[in-house]
Amino acid sequence: MFKNSSPNRRRFLYIALSGLAGATAIAVGKNIDPIYYSHTLDNSKRDFRVTGQDPLKKRAAAKGLIYGAACGQGILASDKNLKASIVRECGVLTPENELKWQFVRPRPDVFDFSRGDWMASFARAHNMLFQGHTLVWHQQLPEWFKEVVNRQNAEKFLVEHITTVTKHYAGQMHAWDVVNEAIKPKDGLKAGLRQSPWLKLLGPDYIELAYRVAAQADPKAMLVYNENDLEHNTPEHEAKRTAVLKLLERLKSRGTPLHALGIQSHLLGHGSLNPRKLRNFLSDVASLGLKILVTELDVIDQKLPSDSMVRDRMIAAMYEDYLSIVLDERAVIAVLTWGLSDKHTWLSMVTPRSDGSPVRPLPLDSNFKPKLVWNAIARAFDQAPKR
Ligand code: G3I
Repeated sequence: MFKNSSPNRRRFLYIALSGLAGATAIAVGKNIDPIYYSHTLDNSKRDFRVTGQDPLKKRAAAKGLIYGAACGQGILASDKNLKASIVRECGVLTPENELKWQFVRPRPDVFDFSRGDWMASFARAHNMLFQGHTLVWHQQLPEWFKEVVNRQNAEKFLVEHITTVTKHYAGQMHAWDVVNEAIKPKDGLKAGLRQSPWLKLLGPDYIELAYRVAAQADPKAMLVYNENDLEHNTPEHEAKRTAVLKLLERLKSRGTPLHALGIQSHLLGHGSLNPRKLRNFLSDVASLGLKILVTELDVIDQKLPSDSMVRDRMIAAMYEDYLSIVLDERAVIAVLTWGLSDKHTWLSMVTPRSDGSPVRPLPLDSNFKPKLVWNAIARAFDQAPKR
């Protein structure tokens, strides 16, 4: 049922999936495919107890894993409670926006590393790894981009950007999200590629070019392909898993210096998981010799009940269920949440709740106190097989 997972783990997972959280086993031929609905109410009795007081980074490290979070430079510099929580809980830091074209490239001939440098030195000062995000994306391109960049000069701009930025941080970066979200099967293009400015200007080879240039500029950094919407039991996510796997196979067959897949993991609290499909996808990625990072984990609670006690249990159940499947794959080496506290989450703006109550997607509440999500992540690390 699960490729490459250990027999006792398989048994545990199968029992867990068909027993806890109201998993519904759907008979598919002779295979039983338990589908996981973590938000079902019967997880109200679920035990989220954790032993000891160790922070998440320590629990992760005990299993050879890395835990960390994304954060904005401005709030990290100004919110002392956030700073203390990041230092306590995180072994890796990712700038939420500061290394994107929007901030690094204010003008065609100007690079602004001020915010990124501040975060790199913060990470260094607190013995944290530093993960760059992101060198090539279709979003947050600066205003001048569409006026200035064209088919004739696009390669120059891409090569110059990646070379300058990765050289600037060479030796400081644990990993780089080099290309972000290049696949979108709904766009109906060959190989499921997204209709991005980069594809329009340079054709499909922009992806391989990006990794070759980044590897030349910083041979030490782990080069990651980062993608969203790979996690759930939906036809869209399954189509994306298939297209991403094919992209990775193509890149590896051409000797592209690509080292890892980042699965963003912006989970839907009301969504479902198919452990077999998800686990087999991870195993297929690992069989390419790639590592895997959970890069932007949070849970969208827009469609969950208003009651924060009930909602917290559902969100925590999704975290623990998802991570118990993902961490069974030993190629998974890191888990980063997209933020650490509900006080600072992009979801407040992008997926506000219709009842007006604050969203609750992250391990710490708005007063930086651990929630059941924190317990769920701690339990997932404590139960994960050692790398
Ligand atoms: O900095 C400008 C500011 O000058 C301006 O006044 C303000 C009002 O428009 O906008 C500010 O820029 C905002 C930027 O975040 C920095 O705060 C953008 O509007 C806003 O759209 C942008 O949102 C970011 C979003 O990516 C953009 O798509 C979120 O903070 C960030 O969390 C989110 O992160 C992405 C990952 O990079 C990739 N994976 C998906 C994830 C969520 O979308």
